[in-house]
Formats: sequence, C-alpha cells, structure tokens
Amino acid sequence: MILLGPPGAGKGTQAKTLSDFWKIPHISTGDILRHAVSNQTPLGQKAQSFMDRGELVPDQLVVDLIRERLNQQDASGGWILDGFPRNVTQADFLDLLLSEIEQPYDRVVNLEVPDEVLVTRMLGRGRKDDTEETIRRRLDVYRQQTAPLIDFYSHRNHLSSVNGNLPMEEVTEELKQIM
Ligand code: AP5
Repeated sequence: MILLGPPGAGKGTQAKTLSDFWKIPHISTGDILRHAVSNQTPLGQKAQSFMDRGELVPDQLVVDLIRERLNQQDASGGWILDGFPRNVTQADFLDLLLSEIEQPYDRVVNLEVPDEVLVTRMLGRGRKDDTEETIRRRLDVYRQQTAPLIDFYSHRNHLSSVNGNLPMEEVTEELKQIM
C-alpha cells in the first residue's frame, strides 16, 4: 500500500497500526531521514537543511534509500509506503523499481484532511519541523509537488480516497476495507 496525503494527514499514524495488523514493514522516508539526521550520518547531514526548511530533500537521496530498503528481506512480502513518492519523478522511479523487483503495489490511498485541521494537528505535535512557518512551506510544497500524484495514480485506476478527518480507528477501518 502507498499512503498519500498532506503533512499531518495521519499517514504515519495509520501506517504504524496497519503494519502491526498486517505484519508488514512501515517504510517512512521521513522517519528514515530523521533517524539519519539525529545520528548525523552522511545522508542526515545532506538532508537536514532541506527538512528544517520544509523543502523536499533531493530526489537522488530518497530514491537510493528506497531502493535499498525495498530490497531488504523483510519487505519481500509487502509493505506500506508513507511519504514516498513525493513528486512525479519519484513516482516514475518507483514504478520502475517495483517492476524490477516484481513487487507491484495493490492500492494507493489518499488521506483527505482540511488544511486548518492539519495545521492544528501539527502544531499540537511539536516536531522540529512543526513550526508555523515550516508547516506553511510544507503545505505549499505538498500542493505544488505531491498533490499532482493524485491524478498520476487515479489515471492508473489505483487510487482510493479516504476521509482522514475522522477518529483514528474509523480511518483504520476504512483502510482495511479498501485492501
Ligand atoms: P514526513 O515525515 O514524510 O512528513 P509529512 O509528510 O510532512 O507528514 P507528517 O509526518 O507531518 O504527517 P503524517 O501524515 O505522517 O501524520 P501523522 O500520522 O504524523 O517528511 C518530513 C520531511 O522529510 C519533508 O518535509 C522532507 O524534507 C523530507 N522527506 C520525507 N520524505 C521525502 C521524500 N520522499 N522526498 C523528499 N523529501 C522527503 O499525524 C499528525 C498528527 O495528527 C499526530 O499528532 C497524530 O497523532 C494526529 N492524528 C493522526 N490521525 C489523526 C486523526 N484521525 N484524528 C486526530 N488526530 C490525528
């Protein structure tokens, strides 16, 4: 499953629950990058300034880490992708990679949540990139670069949309029904 949706939509929250339920890995490029930043690895050092500004990190960095992660043994029986792909270049790359490793995705789900709810949720969470200015930038980047993926996947008839502005358990139930 690929989870799409704006920052704060609940992708990480749902992916964690479903990963436990389906016993498949939750692969979040944001989590992998934050871990790299906190350990100050070469990847983290390259990514940090982009993340602090709410910009996407360069495609090559995330493409390399996704290739490595999806080739790991625990990903051979399925996965939930959260935060990747983030633009059309990454989506094209993913199509190629998945056909190379013969692991098609079943469904792309877009979590829909109104902007004012997203902002309130993120301000309440308090992650380093959850300041008002960075949240605004992340929402702009989402609209410009990630939202076009909704058309990208609906043209392929792989997209379902779910109301993410419901209690967490209800959203989880919807996602289970879709799969
Ligand atoms: P990333 O970590 O992917 O952040 P994001 O997309 O901005 O998403 P969030 O983690 O903020 O939100 P979420 O949808 O997971 O919501 P969550 O479940 O946490 O990316 C961070 C940065 O890394 C990017 O800005 C970029 O720099 C870089 N990056 C990552 N991937 C990249 C890529 N592919 N290419 C380039 N750069 C990349 O929920 C949010 C809050 O709401 C929580 O407090 C939660 O408890 C609450 N909540 C969730 N669901 C509900 C609900 N149903 N009702 C009430 N509250 C809820």
